[in-house]
Amino acid sequence: MKISAINGIFTSKLNPVNHHRINLSAVQNDAFIRTTSFKGSDNDDSFQAFKKWAEETDFLINAESIIEKKGKVLGCGFEGMTIGIPGNDKWVIKVIKRSNFSQQRTDKSEIFEIEDKLPDLNIGQMIAYVKMPVFEDSSRLFYILRRQKGNSYGINNMPPQKLNKANIDIHISSLKKMAELPYEAYKQVVRDIIKANDAGYIFDHYNPNNIMLDEENKRINFVDVEPTCKESVSYQFSDILYALLDGNFGLALLNSTQDKDAIAEAKKYSDIIREKFETAVQEEMK
Ligand SMILES: Nc1ncnc2c1ncn2[C@@H]1O[C@H](COP(=O)(O)OP(=O)(O)O)[C@@H](O)[C@H]1O
Ligand SMILES: [Mg+2]
Repeated sequence: MKISAINGIFTSKLNPVNHHRINLSAVQNDAFIRTTSFKGSDNDDSFQAFKKWAEETDFLINAESIIEKKGKVLGCGFEGMTIGIPGNDKWVIKVIKRSNFSQQRTDKSEIFEIEDKLPDLNIGQMIAYVKMPVFEDSSRLFYILRRQKGNSYGINNMPPQKLNKANIDIHISSLKKMAELPYEAYKQVVRDIIKANDAGYIFDHYNPNNIMLDEENKRINFVDVEPTCKESVSYQFSDILYALLDGNFGLALLNSTQDKDAIAEAKKYSDIIREKFETAVQEEMK
């Protein structure tokens, strides 16, 4: 990648005029870490494995009660709600609020495949959708996603969050955890982004909550990806960095009259994150 593009990192967010795009090209000889195992193994989380599991466990019969009461809500975004499946760590259910119910009649519950364009890499992508009858003339629709590990990062920026002590504490502890991740985690997330980009997935980088910080495995994972036509994907690494810095909240804090020590701490961690990420981008784009 060109140095001029690196210079655009982050500043482009502060100055919308300076909004140039970085085209991601495929990295040669990459050695990304497989987050799931091969088909047929115990860790197989492919569509076929899901379908088999669903049949064996009567998932379609239980789905309604998992969504309504038994499943733990893992997170809520602007569009959807993600629900854990009890006793299952491979997949999660995502209910999209606006298309949860439809006035279309369905005769029976059915699982449909959604093409997984990145079977070797877990980016929390959808692998299936399920349609089931609710009443005589309406149906329920929900999605099955590969489950990502980790905790949602930063402060959900929708709606804008208050600069109160509780949020400042979450922001700083998020930055601290991110800053403490090894450099390899940054290289891996850059590789994942490039792979997702090349496969035609769009990552919703506007919300830092779409980044899952996996402290246990020292990984930066992401969720909330949508398949799209390849041509329309054009990330800027600055966008990703902005999310890694919990940018919306971070900028609000930086420009505020809040506690000076808190601001200094946030800045210290932000600088470490920026440094590690920029170096990782440079290395991986060489
Ligand atoms: N594949 C996944 N594995 C684990 N948790 C997830 C997954 N997808 C989403 N989540 C959790 O649910 C939250 C909301 O889901 P998301 O897909 O971001 O919905 P929205 O499109 O509404 O933003 C996320 O911020 C994350 O905490
Ligand atoms: Mg989201």
